[in-house]
Amino acid sequence: MSKAVSLESLIDNLKDMLSFGKKSFIGIDIGLSSIKIAQVQKKKNGNFKLTKFSSCLIPEGALIEDEVHNEEDILDALRDALEEVGVDNCECCIGLSGPNTFARRLQLAGGTEEEINDQVMWEAEQYIPFDIDEAVLSHHVFGQNEGGGMDVLVVAAKKQIIDTFRELVEKVKIKVKVIDLHSLAVINVFDLISSKNLKKDCSYIVMDIGAQKTSLIIFRNRRIIFVKEMEIGGLMVTEEIQRQMGVNYSEAEDLKTNVDDNGNLPEEVVDIIDEVLDSIFSEVKKTIDFYLTSSSDESLSACYVTGGCTLLPGLIEGIEALLGMEVKILNVFDGIEYDKKNIDEDDLENIAYRGVAALGLAMRDLSL
Ligand SMILES: Nc1ncnc2c1ncn2[C@@H]1O[C@H](COP(=O)(O)OP(=O)(O)OP(=O)(O)O)[C@@H](O)[C@H]1O
Ligand SMILES: [Mg+2]
Repeated sequence: MSKAVSLESLIDNLKDMLSFGKKSFIGIDIGLSSIKIAQVQKKKNGNFKLTKFSSCLIPEGALIEDEVHNEEDILDALRDALEEVGVDNCECCIGLSGPNTFARRLQLAGGTEEEINDQVMWEAEQYIPFDIDEAVLSHHVFGQNEGGGMDVLVVAAKKQIIDTFRELVEKVKIKVKVIDLHSLAVINVFDLISSKNLKKDCSYIVMDIGAQKTSLIIFRNRRIIFVKEMEIGGLMVTEEIQRQMGVNYSEAEDLKTNVDDNGNLPEEVVDIIDEVLDSIFSEVKKTIDFYLTSSSDESLSACYVTGGCTLLPGLIEGIEALLGMEVKILNVFDGIEYDKKNIDEDDLENIAYRGVAALGLAMRDLSL
């Protein structure tokens, strides 16, 4: 037995030595508050293992929506995060989000591949909020739906936004090999770790509540049913603390996140959080109400949340009350292993809450 194992690892080592041409692959998630980098490995049994992770804060205002306002600040953060994971000369997948991206499930008549392509172009042109001539378009056929039509997911991004982020990342000598949407990266992880716990014909809400945006996806029978990006997140609280308490961005971030010895935040901060939570809840409600009226879906069963803003006191309980269903934290470590050599126990919470998109992007390594 032990002989077989050692022979196997010898062969593995040899393979590594011989594959000197192969570059490593990372997922890079550029969020408003920080850059996250993840590297994963697919094991022989098909499971994924997080081998490396790092995150680096981005100073205030460097990235707003999908516009780069201070390139040097972002590049510095990117270099620091790369240095921490210790990879260079590698390839990556980046995630895009914001008003210059698009994702929607379409129900098409179906037919041959060519007919589906035509239907996608025709339908997409009506829905994409920017000129189709300026867009890069892709689609994925899920298969037949209950009505006999074809379920297709159409995704698009403006060429200009793809170029901006590709050029940005290539300035630090990382080759962009795959481009994905942030929301799809999140749902890839969700599908991987939760599919065995999900019930057939039940719909699930998945939300990544970050600093400037919240991706909301409705998932049913392993298909994306609905995607919406909302302009809500932790930044709303930070800005309100800045305004009401007369402090700067980083002071407000500290006031929001640093609890006292008893685990409490200052009363004034709690009041501001409660105020802002009301607007966050009302946006979520608007989106869910829109989905329910347009789909007549009666099978919404549970909600899974991730993202740094999920740590705000009262957020989970509030969403639970709002939706009248259980809200669970999407914990990547429920289904993804991690390398104890490279990943510190103390960092697990940060990765679980804020690293889901980076992990999903890293999983897009086509050679895995
Ligand atoms: N302990 C905490 N309590 C409350 N809020 C927190 C805590 N830790 C982080 N946050 C907030 O979470 C947000 C950052 O989360 P996350 O890293 O998911 O966002 P991001 O990916 O940078 O932003 P986005 O995806 O919106 O561009 C910030 O607004 C930050 O203040
Ligand atoms: Mg994010």
